[in-house]
Formats: sequence, C-alpha cells, structure tokens
Amino acid sequence: MTRRPPAWFEAGLPHIWAPYTQMKTAAPPLAVARTDGVRLTLADGRELIDGIASWWTACHGYNHPRIRDAVAKQLELMPHVMFGGLAHEPALSLARRLAALLPGDLNRVFFTDSGSVSVEVALKMAVQYWLNKGAHGHTKFVAFKGGYHGDTTGAMAVSDPDEGMHKLFAGLLPEQYVLDLPRDDESARALEKFVAAHADELAGFIIEPLVQGAGGMLFHAPQVLQRLRRLADKHDLLLICDEIFTGFGRTGAMFASEAAGIVPDILCLSKALTGGTLALAATVARDHVFEAFWSDKNEHALMHGPTFMANPLACAAANASLDLFEEEPRLAQIAAISRGLSDGLAPCRDLPDVKDVRVMGAIGVVELARIDDMKALKARFVEEGVWVRPFGTTFYLTPAFTISATDLARLTSAVVKVLTP
Ligand SMILES: Cc1ncc(COP(=O)(O)O)c(C=O)c1O
Repeated sequence: MTRRPPAWFEAGLPHIWAPYTQMKTAAPPLAVARTDGVRLTLADGRELIDGIASWWTACHGYNHPRIRDAVAKQLELMPHVMFGGLAHEPALSLARRLAALLPGDLNRVFFTDSGSVSVEVALKMAVQYWLNKGAHGHTKFVAFKGGYHGDTTGAMAVSDPDEGMHKLFAGLLPEQYVLDLPRDDESARALEKFVAAHADELAGFIIEPLVQGAGGMLFHAPQVLQRLRRLADKHDLLLICDEIFTGFGRTGAMFASEAAGIVPDILCLSKALTGGTLALAATVARDHVFEAFWSDKNEHALMHGPTFMANPLACAAANASLDLFEEEPRLAQIAAISRGLSDGLAPCRDLPDVKDVRVMGAIGVVELARIDDMKALKARFVEEGVWVRPFGTTFYLTPAFTISATDLARLTSAVVKVLTP
C-alpha cells in the first residue's frame, strides 16, 4: 500500500488555509477519498472509523441512500433559486415540519446557510424585537463561560472570552456579558442580581442547552435552563437556545430544550439538520417574537437575507433526514450508543492524567489534566484506525447514530489504548 499522497493533494495543499491550524507546525491534513456509513477511506486506501461524524453533522452516517436520492432528485428539478420573493416546496415543507417537531409555539423559521449566521440572525432578531416594541437600548446579551456560538463577530462576542478570542479581537467585537452558568443557588442569585441591575440594556440570554460543545463538552443540569427560563420571564427577556450541536438527538432527546422542559423564545439549528450533507441552518422564533415584526411599517421587517438561504438541495436533504428520524429508531440507537460509550470509556477513569469521563446521549468525553505531545497522540489514533479530533485536553466521541456496536467498541477501545501510557 502506497503512502505517497495523490498528485492533487501535493499540488493543492500550498493553496489551502486550514481551519484552526498553525499552518507552519501542524501535520498536513489526511487526504480523504470517500466516505460511507461511519467510515472515511483515505486516498492511500486506509479506512478510519469516524468518531466525530464530521463535526457532529453526519447523524445517519455518510452517504445515506435516502438523503442522496432526495438531493439527486432535487438537483434535476432546481439546485438553487433565490428565496427573496420566491418560495419552493422543499423549504416550505421543511419549515412546517420543523415547527411541528419543535416544542411549544416555535413556529417561524428563518433559513440561513451556517450555524454562526443563524446565531447572528437570532441576536439581530432579539435586538430588533425590542426596537419594534418601541423599547430602545436593549442591545446586550448575557452569555455563559464555556459557551461557543460560532466564528462570526456577533457569535464570537457571546462565546466564552477565551474560545471567542475576545482579547485578540477587542475593538472589533461588540461587548457582551459572559457570566457563570446558574448551576447552584449561589450562582443563580449572582445572575439574578446582575440581570436585575442590567435589565434595561439586555435583549436576552443565549445558551447551548445541556451541553456546551466546542467549549469542552461541558454538561449542565436541566435546572440551569429552567432557572434561565424563569429569569427571562421575570424580566421579559428573550431566551435563545443554540441547539446547533445538541439538536436532533445528540443529547438523547430530539432537542435538549425539550428534554429540559423549557421552550426558548428563539432556537438555532444547523449541523445534523441536513444529516451532514449540505450547509443549512435555521433560526426559529416563537409566535410572540414574530408578532413584534408583523406590522404595516417596512422598518419593522427583519433585515437579513443570505444569498443561499433555504437552498433547495439542502432543504431536500433536511426533509429526507427528518424522514429517517421518523422511520428509523434513532432515539433507541442513541440510548444504546450512550450505554456503549459509558461501558467502553469506563476504563479511562483509572488512567493517569484523566480528570473526568462523562457521557450524555451520544456524546462520550474523556478530559485529561494535560497532554505532552498532541501531534503524536493524534497520529496514534490514525494508526488505530479511528478518526478523532480533541479540543485542547478534551477527547470526545460523537459518532453517527447508525454506528454498529462493534464499530463503537473499536472507537472506545482505541481511546482507552491510545490514552494508556
Ligand atoms: C453550538 C454551536 N453554535 C454555533 C456553531 C457554529 O456553526 P457553524 O460552524 O456552522 O458556523 C457551532 C459549531 O460548532 C456550535 O457547536
């Protein structure tokens, strides 16, 4: 088997700027030729079991025939058409289905093309909601340490100060309030006091419900969300739940806010929305939010409209993905994955330098106290035939929900093996 990269790789690599990568020192990316189920096939023929489902998107595994067929059919009819002044069946069906699936009266769907942009829309929606109601000055948000909402400037500003690189981009980013999560009575009282003092300038809260993903796979209890809901109600503030990571089953329920028994005022979706095939996101508003924009005045309209919003191919993929959630036992599969992750990762608890092992839904996390040679560790995983990509000292598995018990065991045993000194 040859390990020499293909010609396209060597010719193209000098022109690529990779994400989150120090291009000078990082190992080159792996050349991937194709995907299937939970497997990546590299250009040199090696196969890797994907432990992270392409940044948590490919929830039904790669190349699912139902999604492929739906996209192929839509490609024949209409790959894209602008959404300003025009409407099409895939988007309208998807909006209707999302409204039916989401808790409460989350009934109005605004489509965009990435998670970060759906967050930007949610923030703009919340600020304009106040303006349209005739209340000025409500331009700030309370967000939470450990949170991550995307890489655009508005989204960075409501992310954790380190994660959102607030120091580096000070001056560019709007200043927001990034506080401790109300995990217990003391932190809840501190938040309550802060909100009471700042209610006149706040538009609302933004949180990733139950799991703060990219900030380190940090879990919190449903009570945190219930406290926030009560606090938002008390001060008439809007609660935005960013379910870009948690939505569509990842935490064990279809939506984390639903599992916590709350209905946010605005909810963001992306990632698994299209089953990991095409870029699509949605910002979904409750009736009372939408009603603030329903007016005879043009200036009360929501002024946003990405060129590729509601792309028909992506909406067709999302509709096929929803069909799969309806027809196949995804939540039962997630429960089985949860058990497999708990059992399979349990031996990590006894390893030196392991700070914590935790599992929620189809998310398994091993947090280390330190890592001496990350580059070597990453290479070891590839040697073991698995694909994982840690955040700092946090290793996690977020596989496709269709993964077999055998492949899941291969993932967990690779983690145990590689982290064993
Ligand atoms: C919770 C959350 N919000 C927002 C984003 C940003 O989404 P995108 O990368 O599609 O812009 C992410 C991406 O990881 C995310 O996990």
